[in-house]
Amino acid sequence: MAQTNLTNAKKAKNDEFYTQYADIEREMNAYLDYDKDVFRDKTILLPCDDPEWSNFARYFSQNFQSFGLKKLISTSYAIDSKPDGLVLQPRDEEIRHLKYDSSKARTHGRVFTLTRDMTGDDRINFQDLEWEYLEGDGDFRSAEVTALRDEADIIITNPPFSLFREFLSWIFAADKRFVIIGNMNAITYKEVFPLIKDNKIWLGNGFAAGNAYFASPTTREYAVGVADASTGLVKFRNVTWFTNLDHGRRHEPLALMTEADNIKFSKRKEIKGVGYQKYDNYDAIEVPFTDAIPSDYPGIMGVPISFLNKYNPDQFEIVGSDAYDGSPPIKRYPNKEKVVDGVRMKSITGAMGCVIRQSSFGSGTYFDVGYPVQAVYKRIFIRHRGAA
Ligand SMILES: C[S@@+](CC[C@H](N)C(=O)[O-])C[C@H]1O[C@@H](n2cnc3c(N)ncnc32)[C@H](O)[C@@H]1O
Repeated sequence: MAQTNLTNAKKAKNDEFYTQYADIEREMNAYLDYDKDVFRDKTILLPCDDPEWSNFARYFSQNFQSFGLKKLISTSYAIDSKPDGLVLQPRDEEIRHLKYDSSKARTHGRVFTLTRDMTGDDRINFQDLEWEYLEGDGDFRSAEVTALRDEADIIITNPPFSLFREFLSWIFAADKRFVIIGNMNAITYKEVFPLIKDNKIWLGNGFAAGNAYFASPTTREYAVGVADASTGLVKFRNVTWFTNLDHGRRHEPLALMTEADNIKFSKRKEIKGVGYQKYDNYDAIEVPFTDAIPSDYPGIMGVPISFLNKYNPDQFEIVGSDAYDGSPPIKRYPNKEKVVDGVRMKSITGAMGCVIRQSSFGSGTYFDVGYPVQAVYKRIFIRHRGAA
């Protein structure tokens, strides 16, 4: 259901999902725990934001002094440029402001800046944010927001889900530090996976128990069946933080058993008493669960993408994935037929990743490639560091 949510959001380009204060705080604490000066003397840009709607500017302005920030900049996207803009109105805070301009309020983005105490209370906080209308609608790709990107040291936001790829390449074009929210599936995108493989991006600390809840001010339809009735929050199961700031969890080694011990003692019925199967089309073994990675296997192992939540680059090396050009299969199947519960299907849809050879066609989905094989979920290929 939560997955359908994201699919619907992408289809309708509904990008109005607002991050909760507690989630931002929890994530930033992971970077601060690792390096208490991570934000010191830094200029932070929060694009695709709006302090009047969202919590990022609120969080960083409230902590401006304790983090030792140099400058905080937040940019908002014009109401009329949002697909759901019709149901949004300028906030009272804007309308009451001296700078309010009704000819720009719906069509222009705004830039909010915090550098110093404006209210005279000797503190620098949310009340001290100054703002101006931008020349354009605040699109992150515009020249004026791009110039702010160039000025910033760190870029932090929950960008529009529908523009994740473009947003990430916009950050990389300027080689910036960043912490952003995105869909776990982005890991397998051809633009993203090589960056993960080369340790240029990794997963952040993550949402509590992997569940991300966002406020959705505009769209009720996505909330059906998934919103928490008491809060109106919409739940996404498959969303996480991506970053290139270091944090402690990625340096904690994963405690693992040897191959022999896994076969004897694993809590996974697929492994205990069974062992590890080899793929038919990749030179690697199938490890369906991160906790079942054998500590002494010297070769390449296929693991679920959720492994990245536990990935410690000092312990493992990522060598490829079944969706990555850099790790082609050792075998391709010119002729294949899908067989579901013993019935041959006319068409086969979707690319085939790693497959395991089987002795016969049984219940479930198989492919006939001259013999029966079964596909597994998306896999990334890893090996123990130093094992090559
Ligand atoms: C997922 S929401 C997150 C909002 C806010 N950063 C937060 O987390 O609370 C993404 C925001 O980006 C805005 N947006 C969509 N396309 C944009 C673009 N091309 N440039 C800048 N902002 C955009 C959307 O209107 C939406 O407000």
